[in-house]
Amino acid sequence: MCGIVGYLGKRDCTEVLMDGLEKLEYRGYDSAGIAVFENGSIKTVKTRGKLSCMREKLSKEGSPKGFCGIGHTRWATHGEPSDINSHPHSNGRVTIVHNGIIENYTELKAFLTEKGYTFVSQTDSEVAACLLDYYYSERNPLKAITETMKELEGSFALGILFKDFPDRVYAVRKQSPLIVGEGEGEYFIASDIPAFLKYTKNYVLLEDNEIVCMKSSGTSYFDVHGIPIKKEKQVAEWDVEQAQKCGFPHFMLKEIHEQPDVVNKTLEDIVKDGVPDFSERGISDELLKNVGRVFIVACGTAMHAGIIAKYAIEKLARVPVTVEVASEFRYMEPIVGENDLVILISQSGETADTKAGLELAKEKGAKTLAVVNVKYSAIARAADMCIHTLAGPEIAVASTKAYMVQITVMYLLAFRFAFARGKISLEELKKLTEELMLSPKAISDVIERKGECQFIASRLVNVEKLFFIGRGFDYALSLEGSLKLKEITYIHSEAYAAGELKHGTISLIEDNIPVITVATQENILAKTISNMEEVKARGAYIIALCRKGTEFSENTVDLRFDIDTELPDMLVPLPTVCALQLIAYYTSVLRGNDPDKPRNLAKSVTTE
Ligand code: AGP
Ligand code: GLU
Repeated sequence: MCGIVGYLGKRDCTEVLMDGLEKLEYRGYDSAGIAVFENGSIKTVKTRGKLSCMREKLSKEGSPKGFCGIGHTRWATHGEPSDINSHPHSNGRVTIVHNGIIENYTELKAFLTEKGYTFVSQTDSEVAACLLDYYYSERNPLKAITETMKELEGSFALGILFKDFPDRVYAVRKQSPLIVGEGEGEYFIASDIPAFLKYTKNYVLLEDNEIVCMKSSGTSYFDVHGIPIKKEKQVAEWDVEQAQKCGFPHFMLKEIHEQPDVVNKTLEDIVKDGVPDFSERGISDELLKNVGRVFIVACGTAMHAGIIAKYAIEKLARVPVTVEVASEFRYMEPIVGENDLVILISQSGETADTKAGLELAKEKGAKTLAVVNVKYSAIARAADMCIHTLAGPEIAVASTKAYMVQITVMYLLAFRFAFARGKISLEELKKLTEELMLSPKAISDVIERKGECQFIASRLVNVEKLFFIGRGFDYALSLEGSLKLKEITYIHSEAYAAGELKHGTISLIEDNIPVITVATQENILAKTISNMEEVKARGAYIIALCRKGTEFSENTVDLRFDIDTELPDMLVPLPTVCALQLIAYYTSVLRGNDPDKPRNLAKSVTTE
């Protein structure tokens, strides 16, 4: 959610800021703006709308010329998207960009109003600018920041300019991501690394309540009391190419194509001597053997990966697994104890609800394991154990390769769980691992047949609603297929456990309503086929995703996509989900949408 950038160096600041904001577009936003020191005074340009609107405004009003500034893409939480509510916000001698929510802004606003401040926007953020100005009475930026931090409640990453210091950018964070880029004589702040990857790979992670001051002589870091602290520099593993489209029309399509490769990398990383080995990550057989119950806490697609994991772990290791939507888990007083393992799955590692779930699990004394793609993220760092998924940067809002790698990791964990608890032998463990090794090829085969998915998409392009049904693993896939489709096509879609349809939802089936049936699981195929017949009898148009050779009675299926693979049923979700992703992608494109930036959505949901 929202992007923050800041720059101090010798390049054209406006260009660096705009370029950085473009790299952060994937996070989702509705307005944008920049503030740059030009000949000693701050020039701000901001507007509602996309960065193209910003570019237009810059060419009309003239780009600020300078070497020091901050920029922002806003995902509105307080106040509608408008020019006025766009960031940067200035009040008095302070200009800021803000990501997050100031929870006590009403009280602060009342206090500041009493002190004579007036406000022009409806945002919570302007209050932070004002408060900084209020505490800037001694013209000491660091003091103003530390005093302000004592008052602010909620989450914030702030990029700050002080009028009297045209050669400095300050920044601070609490519960919202912020990274400092340290180049040669030039410095950056950003919500995520791709914003400055072009200029430097060296970065420093700001922890909660830490402050950075960037000057031309270098960076200094301070704690919440303003005491200088030392920070360790790290080097980004991602390169610029990984964060670019590389000839694909959209990031989503590129990321779907990367899946065989990232699954391979994940397998190479975790499999040692033919079996999954998590010991380096602190996950011992002893731990897995003694775990009482497993909770998987996540949101959206990551939660759907958790459902696949539940089925695999319960099937193989016979340990009870509960999958919880993080926003529910955190407030429902879950019965979690010291003997339980809480697994947090997250691509970004910054999702507010998942992070809160992690904190709750820790409070309750449970062991916590993060399965996270962004290595430097808050969840990855706060959990007791972490499996870093190797999907590389996922830019498209709709998660594809991150999900694929999450389920790969969770299968490997399920195998090891079963072995550690004596439910399978070493030979069986090796065999399962070997079978999983076949999945990159199976996924590639589906990608090669993307034309067939495009054809299915052409049938869906004009529909108003559709259904996904399946049982077991196929139900978990239906949930994911449906979410993927609705988030980027805006078609109303419902996913149902195939056997549940007749308990109400079947009343919505009418002539020609598409029902995408995922039917890959042999043990329950006959039951799923009966459910297909039920909807067919009510006029549904059936699109079946099934294993090659699956037989249906005549006229049941209107369109089919055959998964042609040797993988055992339990692992068929890997290639099958790829077909579902491609169907969603092409339907979105055929409807004229931009699948990378679906409306109203943000890539990283840092507010609850
Ligand atoms: C995925 O396509 C969605 N955009 C969304 O459901 C996402 O998976 C969810 O917000 C969780 O994000 P995370 O993995 O970064 O925690
Ligand atoms: N809460 C702030 C606003 O509504 C910041 C939102 C954001 O993170 O973009 O302006």
